[in-house]
Amino acid sequence: MEISVKKAQIQEKKCDALVVDLFYKENQLSGACAQVDKELGGLLSKIIKEDHFKGKLGSVLSIRTNGLIPAKRVFVVGLGERKELNEEAMRCASASALNSAKAVKAKSIVSVLHGLGIGKKDPKLCAKAMVEGARLADYTFGKYKKHEKNSIKTFEIVLSDAKSIRSIQAGIELGEIYAKGTIFARDLVNTPGLHMHPAELVKVSREIAKGNTEISVRAYDKTQLKKMGAGGVLGVAHGSDHEPFLVHMIYKPKIKTKKKIALVGKAITFDSGGLSLKPNDFMVNMKIDMAGAASVLGAFSVIKDLAPAVEVHGIFAACENMPSGKAVRPGDVLTLMNKKTIEILNTDAEGRVVLADSLVYACKQKPDAIIDIATLTGACMVALGEEVSGLMSNNKKLTKQILDSAFKAGEKMWELPLEKRYKAQIKSEVADYKNMGDRYGGALTAGLLLEEFVDKMPWVHLDIGGPAFAEKPLNQYTKRGATGHGVRTLLEFLISK
Ligand code: BES
Ligand code: ZN
Ligand code: ZN
Repeated sequence: MEISVKKAQIQEKKCDALVVDLFYKENQLSGACAQVDKELGGLLSKIIKEDHFKGKLGSVLSIRTNGLIPAKRVFVVGLGERKELNEEAMRCASASALNSAKAVKAKSIVSVLHGLGIGKKDPKLCAKAMVEGARLADYTFGKYKKHEKNSIKTFEIVLSDAKSIRSIQAGIELGEIYAKGTIFARDLVNTPGLHMHPAELVKVSREIAKGNTEISVRAYDKTQLKKMGAGGVLGVAHGSDHEPFLVHMIYKPKIKTKKKIALVGKAITFDSGGLSLKPNDFMVNMKIDMAGAASVLGAFSVIKDLAPAVEVHGIFAACENMPSGKAVRPGDVLTLMNKKTIEILNTDAEGRVVLADSLVYACKQKPDAIIDIATLTGACMVALGEEVSGLMSNNKKLTKQILDSAFKAGEKMWELPLEKRYKAQIKSEVADYKNMGDRYGGALTAGLLLEEFVDKMPWVHLDIGGPAFAEKPLNQYTKRGATGHGVRTLLEFLISK
């Protein structure tokens, strides 16, 4: 699908699907909608009325034009309430149009720029959001099965005056970057553990860096991890036939930078639970347990095009959590890279152990801020459901920056407290810490354990266990499967620095 922008009179365009929009309960047509209605001799306003089309966000009214105008069909897309119009609404609107066009096997779409004329929004941001919506709605995971693809060939945004064309072009380019990074992460997460094993994640990192002077990669293998004292990573990986790797990617732009950001991802390529084996219903989706690292890799896959003016370190320890005669046992004590010890009470609480080592390594790079992103706890899903990530942090300013970035990105995140009184729950009698707290507040005790390994540096922890994977379609641009959640928030954050 090629996405472009052109100056033209929309009602004169020849295409399979012509897209105009309408705010909720605003029946008085204006702009492109009114023009098209006029050319159709009032047909549009008549059907809008007769079909009780209200313009609810994401709803679509489809009309055959029967040769009255060059376009075969007109789609009226609902924009929702005028006062609630934001980038997320525009993503949904353009995704709805794309889904409807695909359903009727259209090949060419011509669309208004949602939000510009009637919504008076920044044209660059409108175009960015539209491209994200369309590209992400168009995504299917086709590695193992041929999908019948009613592919759209062209998606043309049309305006009646040329004034904003350059900023719209810039918005399209930015939207392409955000969508590409998200899709990169979706593909990694959707790929089963059989193929997406630790060595494969190393390969993916190297491919991102290939031919790219701004990006470098170091991967530490088992022998090196032993020398480094990364007992958490080694312990969790012990039961698997796949050897672990600690991957460290660095993006250093050619310009001088002031800030250094570390992005740390959880990269359990499959979480069986280990000896504390998960029941099958809970295990079946556990290829997603590297989604945190996938978000970091998704961000890195487009970082050169985005070109943020900060140095970025991407860090993750790729391991598989398996039961075997060599596996770490409940009751074992592991010594991490900073010499602190963790008693393993449940081998299924492996993420925090591997992340703790990764965070110690990240601190050694002396970053100005650390963001970790992890499918860490089922408890966070109990607290916030499947659509909202939990955010925990030791720093108010960084928290605000990430929450603002998430809002712009259309990714839902909510702050949870690092309640000091619960710290007692992760103290162990035989080691410095244990890897599990009491029955309630599991997302918080996991966060509290991580906090012990960040050396008081500005840090945000994102528990993405719920939103990383959509069990059912989440919205117009997120079908069932991996969502790529986190990538756009990270990109938004990096570019804001
Ligand atoms: N990877 C899981 C958490 C998870 C569950 C992510 C569902 C996404 C969807 C994690 O390693 C885990 O198993 N956590 C346990 C911890 C418990 C044993 C203390 C959990 O949350 O149940
Ligand atoms: Zn687990
Ligand atoms: Zn896990």
